[in-house]
Parts: sequence; structure tokens; C-alpha cells
Amino acid sequence: MKLKQLESLLGTLQQFSNPKIELEQYPTGPHIASRMLYTAENSFGDVTDKVVADFGCGCGTLGLAAALLGAEHVIGLDIDAQSIEIASTNAEDLELDMDFVQCDLRNLGWRGSIVDTVVMNPPFGTRRKGADMDFLSVALKIASQAVYSLHKTTTRDHVKRTALRDYNAKSAEVLCELRYDVPQLYKFHKKKEVDIAVDLWRFVPRGV
Ligand SMILES: C[S@@+](CC[C@H](N)C(=O)[O-])C[C@H]1O[C@@H](n2cnc3c(N)ncnc32)[C@H](O)[C@@H]1O
Repeated sequence: MKLKQLESLLGTLQQFSNPKIELEQYPTGPHIASRMLYTAENSFGDVTDKVVADFGCGCGTLGLAAALLGAEHVIGLDIDAQSIEIASTNAEDLELDMDFVQCDLRNLGWRGSIVDTVVMNPPFGTRRKGADMDFLSVALKIASQAVYSLHKTTTRDHVKRTALRDYNAKSAEVLCELRYDVPQLYKFHKKKEVDIAVDLWRFVPRGV
């Protein structure tokens, strides 16, 4: 599938109707989501025919992008039942198969290399410090091939150091720096959109 077609299909997805502040529910827009998954496949071969998990799947954008690029199996995990309902409707609308698990990722009981690739846009940790690193720690335990994740650029040194030293990563590479528009979902945002710098990372797990 062409990049533009992928972006345009992701643009049709229904997103959070009542986003929950404490869970940092903001969607990855179609522009970033399509490039994230397209790079994962076209530069590294981490999506097509692979088992892919979408951590904190929300309304399913990243997982569905993986499915559109021919992933063998896609599992979306999120703590929030309402988001999973929307994601499930999105999957039906696109006539794609995607399984869902409602869980708190911090307590995920999976052991060993259960999936090939994890894709995620974790909470940046603005509501609960370290939320993004909790996701990363678990992702690197269960992925055999690669983890793709977005983190605030201001945390770059910390993310790299912690992934390599404490989280079982063999390598941690920033693929590009992006401008990320967090839409004005919450009353305390005065501007229409809050624009922040975000890194797209690729981590390779050391393996079990
Ligand atoms: C920034 S949103 C990203 C949503 C979606 N992946 C996307 O890219 O559009 C973060 C997601 O993580 C979920 N989440 C937050 N804390 C979680 C936890 N402890 N366990 C599982 N999911 C969580 C939220 O419900 C939300 O859907």
C-alpha cells in the first residue's frame, strides 16, 4: 500500500469522543502514524507478516496501520474499555482483524518474546511521571524484533540511557524528530493546539 493511501485511510478513523485526561488520551494523527508504520516496514521489515502489538492502542490507529500493511496478527492493548470499543468499530469499518486486550500494561503478565514488534504512542508522562517508561520497559520484555515508540525530545538522553542500561535494549535509535500537535482536548490548554517536539524511536530488544 502506498503511503498516501495509508494516511488517507487512517484519516477516516473515529477518535476519542470523551478523552480521559489522567490516561493522556490524544490520538496519533494520520500523518505521523502512517510514516511511523511505513518506516517500520519499508526501512526495517518489522510489520508485514509479523505479529504486532499496539500498546495503549486507544482508538486503534497504530495497530490498524500495521494491519493495513499486512501484519499477520495485530493485538491492541489498552486500559480503557471505551477506547477499545471505538478501536473495534474502526477495525470493523476497515474490514480488518485485530484482537483486543483490556489491561493495565504495568501489570501485563506476558512472559518471553510473545510478539515480533510493538508499536506505541505511550502517555508522555505529563500526568503520571514515568508513564512512557513503564510502557517501554514492558514492550522490551515481550518483543523479539523491535519496539517503535514516541517520546518527548526533552527526555532523549534519559530514554536512551534507561533503555540500554535497565530495559534489555540492544540498541536505541532516534529515527527522526517530529512536531506533534496535541489537540486542544482539555480545558486547561489555552491554545487550540499544543505543539511539542517528539522523537520517533526504534529499540531492538536483547532477547531472552
Ligand atoms: C497518547 S494515547 C495514544 C492512543 C493511540 N495509541 C494512538 O496512537 O492514537 C495513550 C493511550 O494509552 C492508554 N493508557 C494509558 N495508561 C495505560 C495503562 N496503564 N495501561 C494500558 N493503557 C494505558 C490510554 O488509554 C490511551 O489510549
